[in-house]
Amino acid sequence: MSFASTCPEINVTLDERVLTLGLNRLEKKNALTLAMYQALVESLDKSIRDPKVRAVIITGSKDCFTAGNDIQDFLSGGALGDRHPTVQFLATISKFPKPLLAAVSGPAVGIGTTLLLHCDLVYADPNTVFQLPFTNLGLCPEAGSSYLLPRLAGYPRAAELLLLGNRFDAGQALDAGIINAVVENPFLAAAGQAKLIGDRPPAAVRITKKLLRAGIADQVSKAMAAEFEYFEKALQSAEAHEAFTAFIEKRAPDFSGFE
Ligand code: COA
Repeated sequence: MSFASTCPEINVTLDERVLTLGLNRLEKKNALTLAMYQALVESLDKSIRDPKVRAVIITGSKDCFTAGNDIQDFLSGGALGDRHPTVQFLATISKFPKPLLAAVSGPAVGIGTTLLLHCDLVYADPNTVFQLPFTNLGLCPEAGSSYLLPRLAGYPRAAELLLLGNRFDAGQALDAGIINAVVENPFLAAAGQAKLIGDRPPAAVRITKKLLRAGIADQVSKAMAAEFEYFEKALQSAEAHEAFTAFIEKRAPDFSGFE
């Protein structure tokens, strides 16, 4: 099976049973477009079927994981139905049957943080800056984060991160249970762990992951469905329009006129 990427902004490499999906849109801080989500889904789907792949790593570059969803795409709106590439991406990673790892450095904003909640092992370097800026953008949590984050971090911390949407560092992400470790080289750390997993008996690994996720799978699906319903409406709201336009116009948003 060929893993050649259909999208130049997603690098795909297969090495010793480990598939690495590298975000590669540095001039826009690896902001994720619909085409990038689609390419990620295609590679992830293929890797489920291909026995040569025992683990998958999602990564960015040394200076940037991802600035999250492309804000221009947010402005274009569109229904978040089952065939929407972002919806498909989140459905795929939330049900992914093989070990999913992430190596993170630099900005990890929005889905750049929430996708990590679906990974099994996450390594970040000390320069990583996480952010869940949904309220700042007139939006609401996504990717099941309204369910997963309180469960991992406890309600008070989850509320602080999701209501205020401030940036937080790798030490705080570790305390919140979002990542496994802060390391100098997350790329080497993730590659090393993925290789070790790849050497383990694959069926035992898959069953272990399935059991680990079994208790939360239904709740995650329900949370995601509820979030999409609100998110789709929020994308059309005047608050979100002001936030997106302000970002594109490189100015501070003004929410003072909203009720
Ligand atoms: N969507 C679209 N374009 C984005 C983007 C995004 N999410 N994030 C960054 N970019 C673009 C910028 O518009 C800029 O483009 P330009 O050079 O054509 O003007 C380029 O990427 C570089 O971004 P810049 O903001 O200048 O880099 P920075 O190093 O100063 O800051 C971030 C990096 C990630 C902190 C900052 O870009 C940011 O906060 N981005 C928005 C994150 C966000 O709100 N994402 C949505 C999550 S739901």
